[in-house]
Amino acid sequence: MHRIDLGDGIVTPGRWSRHPLILEAFDRIDFRGKTVLDIGCWDGLWSFEAEKRGAAEVYATDLTSQRTNAGQPTFLLAHEALRSNVKYHPSVSVFDIATLGVQDFDIVLFCGVYYHLRCPLRALACLRSVMRDGGLLVIEGDAIFGTTESIARFHYHDWHFGDPSNWWIPSIPCLRQWVESSFFDVVSEHHSPRELSSWQSIKELGRRMLRRQCLYVSRFAIVARAVRRKDANYLFPDDMLAAFDLNDYA
Ligand SMILES: C[S@@+](CC[C@H](N)C(=O)[O-])C[C@H]1O[C@@H](n2cnc3c(N)ncnc32)[C@H](O)[C@@H]1O
Repeated sequence: MHRIDLGDGIVTPGRWSRHPLILEAFDRIDFRGKTVLDIGCWDGLWSFEAEKRGAAEVYATDLTSQRTNAGQPTFLLAHEALRSNVKYHPSVSVFDIATLGVQDFDIVLFCGVYYHLRCPLRALACLRSVMRDGGLLVIEGDAIFGTTESIARFHYHDWHFGDPSNWWIPSIPCLRQWVESSFFDVVSEHHSPRELSSWQSIKELGRRMLRRQCLYVSRFAIVARAVRRKDANYLFPDDMLAAFDLNDYA
């Protein structure tokens, strides 16, 4: 899936290259000396990018049972060619990420995954639980543009982009609030007008014109900082997030 530059003029023939939106988000972050977690790494493009940018340790995780071509050792091929030190865990769900035994990740990459989950909010709580205070999350994926409403589409019967592995597509305000309510503060937001030229976006554009709607789906990324806070909008957080709650309940 990933186009990975292996050096010596060899680039793997994948469908997904280094998306400018994610590169823009990465450019906000100093990876040097950091401990990085990549969720749903597939062939490892973003894990290797973090390593290239100077990360001290990178954990590339995936749940390969949830995707196609699970038997192809593409990650390991690139890993060997790049002489990489990234640690690969191909069978760890984001929901079981605590089993890695690391509780203080500096940077978490959550790119192209949240909309593949039935419970994206639980995933965000799992990720907050393994990050140090002040750590940075990069969350990226499909989002609904063109509304200030905090809404999300749930796709079960009508598959989003013809793919039954897609579940939730939030609007931008909704994604922002998912992130904030999981004890993160938004640092920066990124979207790419160039995405409109992709075939899927053209189809989406056609659909919205037919429905006379100005909503459309495109890629969006947020960089957010892991925090503890008094949160007037979230009283009595559930067990997974209670540790980050500084509200006074006396
Ligand atoms: C669209 S790909 C994104 C790949 C890569 N992160 C990127 O941005 O190019 C979605 C990835 O999420 C993984 N995935 C799906 N469900 C998962 C889960 N519950 N826990 C961890 N990864 C999951 C899939 O195996 C796949 O590698």
